[in-house]
Amino acid sequence: MKIIIKKDYDSLGKEAAKIIKEAIRQKPNLVLGLASGNTPLGLYQELIKAHKKNEIDFSKIIVFNLDEYLGLSGNYSQSYNYLLRKIFLNQINAERRNFHLLNGGVKNVEKYCQIYEEEIKKAGGIDLQILGIGSNGHIGFNEPGTSFDSKTHLTELAESTIKDNARFFGQEKDVPKRALTMGLQTIFKAEKILLLASGPNKADIAAKAIEGPVTSEIPASILQKHPNAIFILDKSAAKKLTPIP
Ligand code: GLP
Repeated sequence: MKIIIKKDYDSLGKEAAKIIKEAIRQKPNLVLGLASGNTPLGLYQELIKAHKKNEIDFSKIIVFNLDEYLGLSGNYSQSYNYLLRKIFLNQINAERRNFHLLNGGVKNVEKYCQIYEEEIKKAGGIDLQILGIGSNGHIGFNEPGTSFDSKTHLTELAESTIKDNARFFGQEKDVPKRALTMGLQTIFKAEKILLLASGPNKADIAAKAIEGPVTSEIPASILQKHPNAIFILDKSAAKKLTPIP
């Protein structure tokens, strides 16, 4: 596990974009796992800029999304499926046929999750997975207590996640209570992982995930064991880390 601390949100996005651009240059058909939430927005903006300047060709990338609310199909404006297309994928030259975006509107969830895992395998596995972190340490929607062996599955959201995500829905009661998410094992199998954390409200959980014990109570702590995981934090998210003498 490597830790990079940048001065602010903008430079965090730029740093993450630099790593992703390099990965696409090395492997044009990169299999990229995408996260939602506010934290990666700056990164996506940077990648869109790179596209506009013709710096990077995204035409061969293959994308998978990390998670989705159950019950929200891709037409719904707060679904991650819709948002990822709107804020990022539709603004670069990525090919629709290379999009694997979870659909929260599915009926046979169990089968659907199995098929998603097979699609990841068929693509050769995820080369680079982008992650944010929930205030309770979740990655994707893998809430505290989720098994490290989990694959893509249906999960119940923690109370704290429902509260945190109410900002996107207007009120708490409108936040779906269940979601589909890549499992911790699915995420861990990625060749490289970039976890982004920004702002003072992520400081406590970032310190626990990075310096605390590896425990399923803090799902992101599993990344301490990953050979190629990079935590990119801005200064305010890094302020509870033990200072290096
Ligand atoms: C959601 C998503 C996560 C995301 C987290 C943090 O619950 N399921 O994938 O990492 O929120 O969001 P934000 O970046 O907005 O703080």
